[in-house]
Amino acid sequence: MADATSHLNETAQVALQLSEEDRIERIRSSRWIGYSRAKKTLSQLEDMLTHPKTHRMPSLLIVGDTNAGKTMLANRFVQSHPAWDNPDGDAAVVPVVMVQAPPGPDESRLYNGILETLFVPHQPRDSVAKKQVQVLRILKHVGLRMLIIDEIHNILSGPVSKQRQFLNVLKYLSNDLQIPLVGLGTKEALRAIQADPQLASRFTPVALPPWRIGREFLMLLASFEQALPLRRPSKLIEERMARKLLAMSEGSLGELSALLTAGAIYAVRSGSEKINHKVLAALDWVSPSERRLQAERLV
Ligand SMILES: Nc1ncnc2c1ncn2[C@@H]1O[C@H](COP(=O)(O)OP(=O)(O)O)[C@@H](O)[C@H]1O
Ligand SMILES: [Mg+2]
Repeated sequence: MADATSHLNETAQVALQLSEEDRIERIRSSRWIGYSRAKKTLSQLEDMLTHPKTHRMPSLLIVGDTNAGKTMLANRFVQSHPAWDNPDGDAAVVPVVMVQAPPGPDESRLYNGILETLFVPHQPRDSVAKKQVQVLRILKHVGLRMLIIDEIHNILSGPVSKQRQFLNVLKYLSNDLQIPLVGLGTKEALRAIQADPQLASRFTPVALPPWRIGREFLMLLASFEQALPLRRPSKLIEERMARKLLAMSEGSLGELSALLTAGAIYAVRSGSEKINHKVLAALDWVSPSERRLQAERLV
């Protein structure tokens, strides 16, 4: 007889021994699935990290809708390049720093964010010039090799002249530190960067587009199935099932993950131990676009 748990990866097989509540806890917790585009982007980031220092470092803009997996991808990269204590130096080495863009094109708050991430005491009300000096000094001191800025579209909520100024600051940081920058944001961020020819030539856009039916999507579903500790195979890659999951999640990775998580929990609680059409029908699933409409009607 074939192994009854061969549809699962090793971690998930072990998780089958947990109590029901612990297994549900496990299903709820965050998991990383290395889909092909993510792996490709991670290796692009690796290449950038080892790019020789020049006065004109290449930069990347990871573009995708909300819930496409941008932040998780960048976090994964940061985790694989953690800070370490340098026994020969007086400061820790911090190869990669990720900060959120401020809620507007505000250079001063960007500096605050960087200093906070590095736990550097600072005076938020110091002049911009003073903070810039402090930031550049610290970033050189810790040997920063890449700066990642999440939610870079935030800067679009300000006057265009301020946006330009902010983008120029980014260019300046990259030039002065000779490090690549990585921005994460929506299509609007891409448009803002493309408005500046100099920035446009430096930032290579990489898209995390909505999922469509195809080989990569089936591989993604197969990985989810292997990772979710259910006793029976769900066969998520069967065509009708795959199409149903794609339709319900509207092509969004975050929505798909939420849907499969809810399905897996239902499968454990109900004893069906697999996600099938019946389980999906039993969930109170409201499609993402319907949810948005409902939210709009509230206000
Ligand atoms: N590589 C991945 N493996 C598994 N789930 C993922 C992955 N990337 C994203 N997700 C799921 O999608 C959700 C949204 O991802 P996130 O990175 O926050 O999107 P974005 O930053 O594009 O809005 C996450 O909370 C997680 O549930
Ligand atoms: Mg995000």
